[in-house]
Amino acid sequence: MIKDRKISFSGIQPSGDIHLGNYMGALRHWPTYQDAYDCVYCVVDQHAITLRQEPAVLRRRSVELFAQLIACGIDPDRSILFVQSHVPHHAELAWILNCFTMFGELSRMTQFKDKSAKHADNINAGLFTYPTLMAADILLYQTDIVPVGEDQRQHVELTRDIAQRFNGVYGDVFTMPEAVIPRQGARVMGLSTPESKMSKSIPEGCVFVMDKPEEIMRKFKRAVTDSDTENCVRYDRSAKPGVSNLLDIYCAATGESLEAAQSRFAGQGYGVFKPAVGEAVVECLRPVREETERLLNDKGELERLMRQGAEKAASVAGRTLSKVKKKVGFLPR
Ligand code: TYM
Repeated sequence: MIKDRKISFSGIQPSGDIHLGNYMGALRHWPTYQDAYDCVYCVVDQHAITLRQEPAVLRRRSVELFAQLIACGIDPDRSILFVQSHVPHHAELAWILNCFTMFGELSRMTQFKDKSAKHADNINAGLFTYPTLMAADILLYQTDIVPVGEDQRQHVELTRDIAQRFNGVYGDVFTMPEAVIPRQGARVMGLSTPESKMSKSIPEGCVFVMDKPEEIMRKFKRAVTDSDTENCVRYDRSAKPGVSNLLDIYCAATGESLEAAQSRFAGQGYGVFKPAVGEAVVECLRPVREETERLLNDKGELERLMRQGAEKAASVAGRTLSKVKKKVGFLPR
């Protein structure tokens, strides 16, 4: 496929309210790609149902997330912004790719192992084949780069393996995508459990983008610092994971370098440091929260933008899917 510009694709699940990890690791970087790439951004509601969702809540979260992506700076006229279930090509290609993905490969996925341990009563086939749907998302758009946080690197690597296997059999059908992982914010850890990534499944240590300023400040004031006796702000990921995570968050929120932040807080105790990080995060998230609230007041406009995004996405995805179907030997209708 001949392209004028390289393509960037990324997705996010509407399975919970978006948090600081999503924002720092992914969302806030997404708009910056719009200058150099043709960008495609997707609210992946089909991925979300691998865990049980309340239908009305899923609908509400999908609309809210769509608005939040615009509030973060994604321009729905310049980029393709859409909801995954509005474009059936994703599920269709995922089926075909399932037949080019090995059981052993899927069994090795860290996210599958984590989620099946957490949800032992619902280890469904969708949870297992989740990465092939993600591969379909990426490959349908002949994607060159995939901006994601560190935790999604393994899925993008698997996508490359699937694409390579398919291309090896049928010729150059898919562009080989590459994960792009930000230097700052690639792995935001939980405020109450700095040894594990920030995630909505541990709500006490999770700061949500739509949290009110008082709530954000409360969570930062209660953030776990470290069990050493030195009440001092120093970056050391292994000895001081809590303080180091807060320093990373501070730098990501303010744009300050780690060295500058360390000297700013040198000699100051956690009692000064933690609220300062909280304030930096409040200011960083404020415009997103306010703009989301404004956009949610006009649901009609959001629906129009969703339709527009789905049409644009389907037209690109349709070209790749037709080629794939022909290659594998399906009859034209
Ligand atoms: P999801 O919805 O879990 O997360 C969306 C984005 O947020 C990043 N992220 C984090 N970054 C830093 N620190 C954290 N604690 C943290 N938690 C989440 C994720 O890396 C991701 O970039 N499978 C994907 C969604 C997806 C997708 C795709 C992504 C579906 N199809 C195609 C890229 C391309 C997921 O569950 O992300």
